[in-house]
Amino acid sequence: MKVFVTRIIPEVGLNKMLDAGLEVVQWQEKRNLTPQELIEACKQSDALLSAGGKIDADFLKECNHLKVIALHSVGFDSVDVAEATRLKIPIGNTPGVLSKSTADTAFLLMLSVARKAFFQHKRIEKEEWSFFEPTANLGVELQGRTIGIYGLGKIGYEMARSCIAMFDMKVIYHNRHPNLDAEKELNAVKVSFEELLVKSDVLSVHVPLGEETKGIFDRSVFSRMKPSSIFINTARGGVHNEEDLIWALENGVIWGAGLDVTNPEPMQADNPLLNMPTVAILPHIGSATVETRNAMSLRAAENIIAGLKGERLPYPVNPEVFDT
Ligand code: 8YV
Repeated sequence: MKVFVTRIIPEVGLNKMLDAGLEVVQWQEKRNLTPQELIEACKQSDALLSAGGKIDADFLKECNHLKVIALHSVGFDSVDVAEATRLKIPIGNTPGVLSKSTADTAFLLMLSVARKAFFQHKRIEKEEWSFFEPTANLGVELQGRTIGIYGLGKIGYEMARSCIAMFDMKVIYHNRHPNLDAEKELNAVKVSFEELLVKSDVLSVHVPLGEETKGIFDRSVFSRMKPSSIFINTARGGVHNEEDLIWALENGVIWGAGLDVTNPEPMQADNPLLNMPTVAILPHIGSATVETRNAMSLRAAENIIAGLKGERLPYPVNPEVFDT
């Protein structure tokens, strides 16, 4: 059985598939495959391990022979899941293992924005560190403030936990369904979306990208947030409208923003956000730790191995394909 892997992934995952007797072909070039290249590679394979790129209806139509598609991510907005389910192709993802590293990234951005850290670093590089001014370079403190979590799942929980541990922050959240563990363990309070906007000192996005969340943070939404607030997004760039975010920051509608995800990705080097004092941008490194990426590659490999045996995936996105 042959597996096509769209990027170089950590060796542990690769070795797991080789130990299971699978033939593995990895795309080695440092560029994205074109849709046609992906189709051609998959036509000669039984399974796909995808670490980036779109799995759309056109691809699925051409490659409906695939026994399993394993994502090297927890997010699955890159996949037409409805179509894969219709074609009975199991899709797997990597839940759980990246919650802490992604929440750490959100926390890092929050604190960096509050203390203008990325901007200060740039100033030193530009030889702008001159005499000491007691009223210059001032940030704001986070102690006792309110963290609003938009989408309190596993990652949002870890972010809330860190905010409590470090700054004794109050936690409010907006979800479709209540998170009873978070309410019990973190004293998190479920609020309406409107209340989340109005009450959060820091608003951190942890929702998947979907019809409901696409572009939701636009001018009108930013306008309802506190002028002193910080917007953090480590989920998907598509959740915010980037032009509207620039407008909100330039006009003091909100105070700061920290992004690990941008729209589009990669962000262009001349984006005005990169020069704003109260902005911190990272190049989508939420899950980029040795420990997390190893764990992700193992989960992806486990999904591939199970799928090729015709078994239920250990981490399925569309478990309904096994029920019929
Ligand atoms: C990266 C992520 O996309 O898991 C996700 O959904 O956004 C990140 O972990 C992933 O690492 C790409 O392989």
